[in-house]
Amino acid sequence: MTSYLHGYFPEEQERLVEQAGILGSLIYPRIDFEGCKHVLEIGSGVGAQTKVLISLFPDLKITCVDAESKQLEKAKANLLEEADRLTFVHQDAQKLDLDEKFDGAFLCWVLEHIPDPKSVLGSLKNQLLPGSVVWITEVFNSTFYFQPELPGLRNYYDNYNAYQRSLGGDPDVGAKLGGLLKENGFRDIELYPGGFHLSKHEPELLQKFTTYWIELMKSGAAAMLASEWILPEEVSAMEKDLIRIAADENAVFYYRFVQASATI
Ligand SMILES: C[S@@+](CC[C@H](N)C(=O)[O-])C[C@H]1O[C@@H](n2cnc3c(N)ncnc32)[C@H](O)[C@@H]1O
Repeated sequence: MTSYLHGYFPEEQERLVEQAGILGSLIYPRIDFEGCKHVLEIGSGVGAQTKVLISLFPDLKITCVDAESKQLEKAKANLLEEADRLTFVHQDAQKLDLDEKFDGAFLCWVLEHIPDPKSVLGSLKNQLLPGSVVWITEVFNSTFYFQPELPGLRNYYDNYNAYQRSLGGDPDVGAKLGGLLKENGFRDIELYPGGFHLSKHEPELLQKFTTYWIELMKSGAAAMLASEWILPEEVSAMEKDLIRIAADENAVFYYRFVQASATI
């Protein structure tokens, strides 16, 4: 793999597992692979979403594709008990070349990292049987809104997104899912907003999601520091500002991701 915003160190691999738990109630209410036998998961990482999928759909087999062998090794370790229902493939999703065809596909937080997401969906289409269903969940980072307006968080967030773009990724790819699916010949395309809108009416959730957001933001820090994109004090300022938002009586904390479903 070339440069990747979040890195592949153990803390980040653990963060992906925690993230799947924290965001699960926002991601999974709509996901439906009922009747599917074998789903292709692209950018499966350490298997955090895979674990949820196989528990929600007990008859499902999943083939997990990731471009990074460290992620696949960790996924195998995390999913030892479910090994008989899983296959792991080390491949770049922009050039899928798998022997089998699948009747469903699942992508979560991966297109944002890929320079040519159109090629992923084109490549995916060739791996799917007619009538297959696809579920994609992706970031739309421009939707992030917070009050009070704090410069440390604003500065870090802008840098985080700019850095992702510099690596060829797209922190707003969620906004483009409908067009990307259409361009690649998918049908029955539906787009759904997901995310959170928090303020003092839900203080515990506000605390939970600002804490989650600190970890998400810090997951880009090692790469940004190493390339001198940011300074250590900018990381600390971001963290302090998020702690202030959690404690602020008038705080607003808002974010939308996009979920898409389609068939082929
Ligand atoms: C943020 S992680 C998400 C992992 C998992 N979907 C989840 O939600 O826990 C993104 C994953 O996409 C993988 N990835 C990035 N570019 C890829 C590519 N071109 N082909 C396949 N996987 C890729 C990374 O290695 C990483 O494991």
